[in-house]
Amino acid sequence: MNELSKAQRLRGKNVVVIGGSRGLGKSIVAATHAEGARVLAVARREQSLRQLAAEIPGVRVLALDAADEGAPAQVFEMLLPDILVVCAGALPHMAPLVEQSWEQFSRNWNSDVKMSLLFSQAALTIPLPAGTTIMLISSGAALGGSSLSGGYAGAKRTQMFLADYAQKESAPREEDEHPCVVVWHMRTSALLMMERLATAL
Ligand SMILES: NC(=O)c1ccc[n+]([C@@H]2O[C@H](COP(=O)([O-])OP(=O)(O)OC[C@H]3O[C@@H](n4cnc5c(N)ncnc54)[C@H](OP(=O)(O)O)[C@@H]3O)[C@@H](O)[C@H]2O)c1
Repeated sequence: MNELSKAQRLRGKNVVVIGGSRGLGKSIVAATHAEGARVLAVARREQSLRQLAAEIPGVRVLALDAADEGAPAQVFEMLLPDILVVCAGALPHMAPLVEQSWEQFSRNWNSDVKMSLLFSQAALTIPLPAGTTIMLISSGAALGGSSLSGGYAGAKRTQMFLADYAQKESAPREEDEHPCVVVWHMRTSALLMMERLATAL
């Protein structure tokens, strides 16, 4: 994944990955960097970001909580994306319904959904370059449910609705400076995702 691709299909593009320090987000960071993109990885923990920057030289990093209201402005100030991937999410609290407090049940709403909402709102109000693509990473659970993970499946389904609403709200201004918001399921591998993205750009 770390080897530079010969074609470098994302050369000249700016890619921002929210939740880029591990898991799927880290794979997207590695895949887009290998395709020649200028990549900014965002996460809360500085140490894992420092480790990432050492592992993949050239990748820029920013430590912040992406669920904070001011996060999108800080991120866009550091790098204005052509592709923004909102991949960060909380680990759902796994327990039967009767054992879930509201705080545990709603965990993914206050992280995954909140980050998707804040970044979609910012994408619609801060003028991003024409053709900017925003990807919200959802889950197969959004379609099939996930009985032991509380509000997780509903939160991931809401990310799909959010992408649809944001897409519609950006439509009248698509010709000038507004972004395209899409939702991606976890079933798609990071590499396949990049293949499709590179073809679409
Ligand atoms: N793994 C799966 O099997 C699976 C299946 C279906 C869908 N998904 C979805 O795919 C996405 C990625 O999952 P994953 O398993 O790769 O996650 P992961 O390994 O837990 O990584 C989460 C990433 O997001 C960052 N993060 C979390 N909360 C954040 C916040 N408030 N602000 C900034 N960064 C934050 C984490 O770093 P810090 O903790 O340092 O902030 C980390 O870089 C999630 O949306 C998840 O719902 C995953």
